Amino acid sequence: MSPSALSSALLAVAAITLVHAQPDPADPTPLVDKHYAYPSGIPYQVDYNTAALRGPQVGYNICNSTTENQSSMCQTSFVNHIDDFCLWAPPQPNSTIGDTEGQEVAWCTKPGHGTRLIPAGALQGVQLIKTPNYIQIAGFIDQTQINIAASDYGGELDPHGADLRGNPLGGLMYSNAFPSNGGNNDSYQQVIDWTNFMGGNGFCMKVCDPAGQNQQALCQNIYDRLGCAYNAPNNAQKGVFEVCDGDDMSPVGVYTTGGATSTYFQPPESLGPITTVPYTATPAPSSNCVTYSSTSLYTGQPTPSGATASSGASGAKSTASSTNSGASPAKTGGAATMGVSLGAGLVGVVFAMAFLS
Ligand SMILES: *[C@@H]1O[C@H](CO)[C@@H](O)[C@H](O)[C@H]1NC(C)=O
Ligand SMILES: *[C@@H]1O[C@H](CO)[C@@H](O)[C@H](O)[C@H]1NC(C)=O
Ligand SMILES: *[C@@H]1O[C@H](CO)[C@@H](O)[C@H](O)[C@H]1NC(C)=O
Ligand SMILES: *[C@@H]1O[C@H](CO)[C@@H](O)[C@H](O)[C@H]1NC(C)=O
Repeated sequence: MSPSALSSALLAVAAITLVHAQPDPADPTPLVDKHYAYPSGIPYQVDYNTAALRGPQVGYNICNSTTENQSSMCQTSFVNHIDDFCLWAPPQPNSTIGDTEGQEVAWCTKPGHGTRLIPAGALQGVQLIKTPNYIQIAGFIDQTQINIAASDYGGELDPHGADLRGNPLGGLMYSNAFPSNGGNNDSYQQVIDWTNFMGGNGFCMKVCDPAGQNQQALCQNIYDRLGCAYNAPNNAQKGVFEVCDGDDMSPVGVYTTGGATSTYFQPPESLGPITTVPYTATPAPSSNCVTYSSTSLYTGQPTPSGATASSGASGAKSTASSTNSGASPAKTGGAATMGVSLGAGLVGVVFAMAFLS
């Protein structure tokens, strides 16, 4: 198949599967149905089938001390605690999430997972909320330090995708932080439902408890144009690093008006930019917030690459949005206040992130 024929095929798949995802016949098992005990059950690659339309998987899933450096192609990720989590970001510098969604690799806050490390100072404010059924981490990041182009509004990574093979392809997620794990930090459970928005110098990650309730609604993946503001309502603030308890949010899209409950679905991109959403998402109640200094949380991180990048958090802070709580300095008013994307792309990846505070 020529490159252009391949991309047409992909576009056709994407157009159909924005509504109904369709498995690739060459690899019909959805990523969410691929379950591996940590660590011994994990294969070298979860998604190795070269006959599949997308791919093959660019990295690997067995990650250890020999794979741990800033060129790591590890695609096994973790969300444990505020000092120990990973984000999905591109393997090559100056990439957009939209162009590389199938290839993202794990970037973690601490050594020990066989991955790349988020450089010191890149994280500029993080809020972790632990609810009965999920863990949500949202915050601000100098995204150029994790290979995301400065101007990229980014998009959503999740274990679904048009062909159900995940973005990134074969990306696995584990956690030791759910109650069903019995508080044992050395025992990891695979997280089946998760979502991660990256871009606009911000991020949000939600991982649903594999033994919890309502996972599919709480870690919904069909609102990829609505950004963190709707998918992970939060109170993240620049310069603040905190862990809170919280209630579960209302499932994305579900809202109450005049005493009646309705469900909103994002329109297909063919209908153009989203200009209105019939409700404003607000963070669920939270309590017991404990704040930390970033230097106490994030140790063992490499210094940023690039001669002028060393100003880290404070340098980036001053150039990022200062007039409101939004994450992106480049976003425009209407879109930003709603957290609604204006872009077009293969899977509707462009988004603007509005952190409500
Ligand atoms: C470390 O990871 C690499 C890459 O996945 C793998 O080839 C190697 O076997 C692993 N080593 C151990 C001791 O597990
Ligand atoms: C990172 O580790 C891999 C696997 O051990 C190795 O091939 C590569 O040269 C290392 N890269 C750097 C920049 O250290
Ligand atoms: C990133 O890529 C864009 C588009 O290709 C280019 O214009 C820009 O100069 C690049 N920036 C860096 C820092 O390499
Ligand atoms: C697990 O890790 C967290 C955060 O790193 C720590 O606060 C907690 O004490 C650890 N639990 C155990 C049982 O070691």
